[in-house]
Amino acid sequence: MEELRRRILADGRALDDRVLLVDSFLNHQVDPELMRAVGEEFARRFDGEGITRVVTIESSGISPALMTALALKVPMVILKKSASRVLQDGILQTDVYSFTKNARYKLTLKCEFVHPDDRILIVDDFLANGEAAFGALRLLEPAGAKVVGVGAVIAKMFQPGASRLREAGYRVEVLAPIRRMSAGKIEFE
Ligand code: G4P
Repeated sequence: MEELRRRILADGRALDDRVLLVDSFLNHQVDPELMRAVGEEFARRFDGEGITRVVTIESSGISPALMTALALKVPMVILKKSASRVLQDGILQTDVYSFTKNARYKLTLKCEFVHPDDRILIVDDFLANGEAAFGALRLLEPAGAKVVGVGAVIAKMFQPGASRLREAGYRVEVLAPIRRMSAGKIEFE
């Protein structure tokens, strides 16, 4: 997606060979026009797949996922990371380890928001090791839903997430696939 690549080159910043800062338009401040274009692009790529729900992981996945759901005219479901005192019954949970943040969290799905006949598209801001996506799969598939694919706004292709998901049989669409980076330098595939 050319518009996104241009924006990453203009406003993103590679801190080192592993972390890309995009907080001026994706992770902290959000550019709604760019997110609308991102949503329309995912909707175009997954057109004809009969998607019935878009699922994301809080928090930075929400804006691209919402715009994708809007373009596909389906609901969006947020997998929660924080433990809730009111969410007690009818929930599924799984532990996810984030290598980037060196932190473990519990991902939670309220089962009533995913149905056995659902065809789901997972959308997230970053795909690195794929731990968040595999965590989402561990919740969605036991709920009976079919996961049609995973859409990542940015994927660090030098980390194993995209290939692990593809090897497991999932369709992965990446709008900005990064081949490599180093401080101040970003190279796309
Ligand atoms: P994985 O799910 O693919 O294994 O990725 P990993 O655990 O390594 O990283 C997950 C978290 O780190 C995500 O944020 C993701 O957005 C963020 N992340 C990973 N690589 C980068 C990067 O290069 N730049 C930035 N800015 N973020 C990165 P999160 O824990 O879900 O938090 P949130 O920001 O969505 O709230």
